[in-house]
Amino acid sequence: MRILGIETSCDETGVAIYDSAKGLLANQLHSQIPLHSQYGGVVPELASRDHIRRISPLLSATLKEAGLGPGAIDGIAYTAGPGLIGALLVGAGFGRSLAYAWDVPAIGVHHMEAHLLAVMLEEKMPDYPFLALLVSGGHTQLVEVKSVGDYLILGESLDDAAGEAFDKTAKLLGLGYPGGPRLSALAEKGRAGKYVFPRPMLDKPGLNFSFSGLKTAVALTVKELEDDEQTRADVAHAFVEAVVDSLTIKCERAIKQTGITRLVAAGGVSANKQLRLKLREMTARRGGQVFYPRPEYCTDNGAMIAYAGYVKITAGWREPLQFAAYPRWPLTGSQRTSDVKT
Ligand code: KG4
Ligand code: ZN
Repeated sequence: MRILGIETSCDETGVAIYDSAKGLLANQLHSQIPLHSQYGGVVPELASRDHIRRISPLLSATLKEAGLGPGAIDGIAYTAGPGLIGALLVGAGFGRSLAYAWDVPAIGVHHMEAHLLAVMLEEKMPDYPFLALLVSGGHTQLVEVKSVGDYLILGESLDDAAGEAFDKTAKLLGLGYPGGPRLSALAEKGRAGKYVFPRPMLDKPGLNFSFSGLKTAVALTVKELEDDEQTRADVAHAFVEAVVDSLTIKCERAIKQTGITRLVAAGGVSANKQLRLKLREMTARRGGQVFYPRPEYCTDNGAMIAYAGYVKITAGWREPLQFAAYPRWPLTGSQRTSDVKT
């Protein structure tokens, strides 16, 4: 079975084909970074228009990369939420229409569920149940994954998402957009111990996160600083350490609490090298294992949507001849009420 996946929830247009026998056959991505960078962040209306411009050429490029014609596609999956409504509607409208024209089933996929399942595209993948740390631009969640579709949220951010904290702190340091990767790169040049920022929520029981205080602490420090490259790198280093420590300590608590020692880290922030290293050390110390998608499957892509769609379509889920997009959509309701199981 071959599933075409379409991702348009934010600032990347992604189209990919997943083959149940051969794995990923094609994976095309168009990044809108040059478009939004002049504004210092994602401009939703520009994002929607760019998805419209790019989606059809990307589909052709994807089919060409796979060496396939439309007749070879057995189903279409698109991101139905959460995300920017205008951007989502482009992928939803395009994907649903294509499925109608090609007479194949369509399915709307939950973006965070796709991030969570992206690890299954790798050779090293976890058995169920496992814990998942989902860290993206809009979400920070610790999830107990009992099986596909059976998710228990153990903890989440009470304010900013981890990626949002990276992006806002990058802005404070004058790094612009996209903040996360630039801040991570700068942090690698920083010296340890020059600055220390708080690790919020560690003194409280539970598995929730909070990152807005950390951003304020950085803002206050930056005000007093000499504006030279090394100092900014030292601040970036201390910020990354604080975020990584908070995330790692909560993951360790979740392992202790559930007894589950398999951990998956996914979403854009899980591309961060420091986080990957710390989680590896922590899980090894606990006799467990951490699993990651490769960095290009951590950030937004069509491959994870194609895979998540494959899982849903083979489980019998079908979407009626209509489509909808959900800017806010809880992971625990990742099956939409309009979809039917055949
Ligand atoms: O999963 P993703 O691509 O999109 C969303 O679903 O939001 O995540 C994007 C987030 C952004 O906040 C970005 O700054 C952050 O992931 N990010 C990183 C890195 N690469 C992307 N944060 C830290 N280190 C990175 N290497
Ligand atoms: Zn994402």
